[in-house]
Order: sequence, then C-alpha cells, then structure tokens
Amino acid sequence: MDPTVAPAAPLTGLRHKDLLGIAGLTPEEVVLILDTAEAMKEVGQRAIKKVPTLRGKTIVNLFFEASTRTRTSFEIAEKRLSADTLNVAIATSSVTKGETLVDTAMNIEAMAPSMIVLRHASSGACHLLARICRAGIVNAGDGLHEHPTQALLDAFTIRERKGRIAGLKVAIVGDLLHSRVLRSNVRLLTKLGADVWVCGPRTLIPVGIEALGVRATTRVDEAVEGADVVMMLRIQLERMQGAFFPSLREYFTTFGMTEARVARAKDDVIIMHPGPINRGVEIASEVADGPFSVILDQVANGVAVRMAVLYLLAGGAEHETAA
Ligand code: CP
Repeated sequence: MDPTVAPAAPLTGLRHKDLLGIAGLTPEEVVLILDTAEAMKEVGQRAIKKVPTLRGKTIVNLFFEASTRTRTSFEIAEKRLSADTLNVAIATSSVTKGETLVDTAMNIEAMAPSMIVLRHASSGACHLLARICRAGIVNAGDGLHEHPTQALLDAFTIRERKGRIAGLKVAIVGDLLHSRVLRSNVRLLTKLGADVWVCGPRTLIPVGIEALGVRATTRVDEAVEGADVVMMLRIQLERMQGAFFPSLREYFTTFGMTEARVARAKDDVIIMHPGPINRGVEIASEVADGPFSVILDQVANGVAVRMAVLYLLAGGAEHETAA
C-alpha cells in the first residue's frame, strides 16, 4: 500500500441531515445503514426494547397519505431510541382548512423538532422541506419518486437471508409505473451489484427504465426463471387514471405470482412484497403465506432499519461521544 495514502476511515454517520432517497447515498452509506440495523435488531430482541440514544430529541411523523407499516414502524423505532415522538393527524389538522405543506412544515419547525418523517403524494415534497427546514427530513414515501427506508429494509432482509446482494438475480414484478418502492429498490440493488429484472404489462413499465441498469420484460416466466429473489409490487388502482390492463382477473392470470411460477425460480428463492397485498391480484395467497415468503420478516426488519436511519442521521457514533 502507498504509505502516503491513509486508509479510508470507517464511516460512523451519514453526510446529510436528511434521507431523501437512495439516489443520494453512496454504497458505503447503504452498507453502514444495514450494518447498524443489525445492532438495532438486537435491541428489539431484548426483554426491555429501549436504549437512550435519542433522548431529548423530538421527532414528528407527518403522513399526508395512508400508511400502516411505515408509520407504525417509524413510531416504534423512535420510541425504542427514546425520542419524544408525535404523529400529526392530517385529517384533523389545519391542512383541512387549506394550509399548505410549506406552512404546515414551518409551523412544526417553529416548535424545534430534531427530525420530521414525511409521507406525501407529491414527488419532491421531501426535497422541498429539506431546503427550508433545519430539522432533518426523512422520506417515508413521496409520490412516485422514492421510498428509501422500504428499499433499505428490503436489502436488509435479502442480505439476512442470502448473506449477500451482489450477483443475485432479483425479479421485481407488478405495477412498476406507479411504484416509488421500485425506484428506490432499483437504485439500491444495482448500487450493491444485483442483477435486477423488472416485469409487468407494457403499459406499466416506465419508459427508459433500462437506463437505471435493469433488464425489462413483459414475460413473467423469463423474469422469475432462476431468480434468487422475487419481489411483487402492488397494483396501485388508486393512482391509475385509465385502464392499464383489461381486468384484475386477466392481470392475475398473466402476471400474478402463483406456486407454478415460483417453481421456475431457485429452490431457495425468497418471495417479497412491501405491502399492502392485493391477494389474488398480484400474488396468490398460497405464495404470500407460503414457505418462501419473507413478507412479515420485511415488516419486522423495518423497525431495525428505521432505528438505524434515525440514529445515523442524528449523528451516529459522534453524538455518543458528544454527550
Ligand atoms: N410498504 C409500505 O409503505 O406500507 P404502508 O403504506 O402501510 O406504510
């Protein structure tokens, strides 16, 4: 080794105050989050599932769109880290009187939270708040853009099951066009060296998706053949204006994940889905609840991954020494 070149110091935190997307993370930062999540998972296996790490920090969960898994697991993660946490109920907030996102955020900001976890229907909403808020902004899903913590928990689950991500064939099947989960996963999995295939009806494949380093096909058998990981995506009827395929029944026949289709994948394939599931539309119940499914592991791992993200954004190892 050249003695004038010091080895890179191991990362102990993230470079930014915000987590806006996978696009802004280096591969080393992704690995740091996954490694940190392993330690956080251990906290969740203790009798007393709580550490004082974020004591004195206030975290506001601001969800403008419905959520079960993401909102719940962020709140559990915040509580396990001893942060003071509160959920703004949008339906009973002044948003219903016409207050804008920016005004809502600036009023919350005036109460000096450390972080705001935001889900919003508009792509770019998190970037907007990150520019105007001192608080760290964590993207919990913005429009069709990104859902970074979902991709991180998916990668954590894959690594936990397979021991690696590089070189694995990952088939992502479903409504690609409307999926922020797809966009975050493609960015993350290609960053870490996976061979990513995407599959859906031609009408639901984003134009130019191959530019992100994936192979696209409309033939589900081709996508699933020899796959190590099959990730199903929900048909997002609430975001569709117009008919993208003839009927849900026909969609299931052509693209639905059945036991027969799973049999084309590797013998130790894992079946993933970010939830919520449309049973009998994109996935058969026998597959969703079957022996290859890791869908509830994904949910469980979401808590550890979100703990890791909040901890690292708050300063990682640095803030332990600063106390
Ligand atoms: N995967 C996911 O984002 O689920 P929720 O919409 O329930 O948060």
